[in-house]
Amino acid sequence: MAQPHSQPHVVRVAAGSSTYDVHVGAGVRHRLSSVMPEGARQAAVITQAGIGWQVDSGLEQHVFTVAEGEDAKSLSEVERLCREMSQAGFTRSDVVVALGGGVVSDLAGFVAAVYHRGIRYVTVATTLLAQVDAAIGGKTAVNLPDGKNLVGAFWQPHAVLCDTETLSTLPPRELRSGQGEMAKYHFLTGEDLDALDTIARIAAAVHIKAEVVAADERESGRRVILNYGHTLAHAIETAGRYDLRHGEAVAVGLVYAAEVALRMGRIDTERVAAHRRVVASYDLPDRLPAPLDDDDELLALFARDKKALDGVTFVLDSDRGVEPVVGVPDSVQRDALQALR
Ligand code: GLY
Repeated sequence: MAQPHSQPHVVRVAAGSSTYDVHVGAGVRHRLSSVMPEGARQAAVITQAGIGWQVDSGLEQHVFTVAEGEDAKSLSEVERLCREMSQAGFTRSDVVVALGGGVVSDLAGFVAAVYHRGIRYVTVATTLLAQVDAAIGGKTAVNLPDGKNLVGAFWQPHAVLCDTETLSTLPPRELRSGQGEMAKYHFLTGEDLDALDTIARIAAAVHIKAEVVAADERESGRRVILNYGHTLAHAIETAGRYDLRHGEAVAVGLVYAAEVALRMGRIDTERVAAHRRVVASYDLPDRLPAPLDDDDELLALFARDKKALDGVTFVLDSDRGVEPVVGVPDSVQRDALQALR
């Protein structure tokens, strides 16, 4: 990506249940006290030790540190946090501050959704993945031993701060993971994202997501397009055994979706090449990991994907844009997998 240089952007998300602003720019975490909801006396800052950033809400502030990685997204952590907030005297008018990446925004957002039947929360997103995806749109959840994000709620934040300064300390693979989600947005807009610097590009991604969430807050239709590239990505992640981060798997999944769309007569070879070019521009993979050679296993996993409404639902490109598609023949699915080897 180009070096950041543009001024902070403010993108409005007009979701059905609430409207809020997403601030994108260098140092916007310092705006936290100015976006605190009216009437809040205390802030519960939920974060992970590895995040390495502090914030000042301007309120009486309690910091709650949760487990590292996906282990934080558990019902036992939700219970612990709610109990500690209760013991600290948090009321319905107080506020949760989610400080971290997607794990923290999923967990802290869910705590906010259920504590006292729902309190307000503000997210300070410190990873690229959270800034362009997880922190926007009100999906909150924790995991069960049976699967990821199986218990959750749609609960919109009061405000989101995407501080691009925090990206400077991200481990390279964590940054690449966010870039996989960013690559997806190149195909959800007519805008040339290549021409934008980092801040403007993140703001453009937020803008696209805001428009989709405004149209379909609870994913009963259009919001499924945000899963572009995710059918194969989820299959790769569920199969396990392969050392790919989420965004890296999404990158391979974008190229796969293009190869499927080509074989369905929806796009031409030039558009497939554009997918490979964008993925390469983020230095992301466009091939399946070598040991992932069992097509039967992958096709079975496609059918278990949670956006599967009626058999396997792919999200595919066309000259009308990206849209959900059912009825992709097995032969097409298998042939397109060959194009990734
Ligand atoms: N991450 C996809 C969505 O928010 O709908």
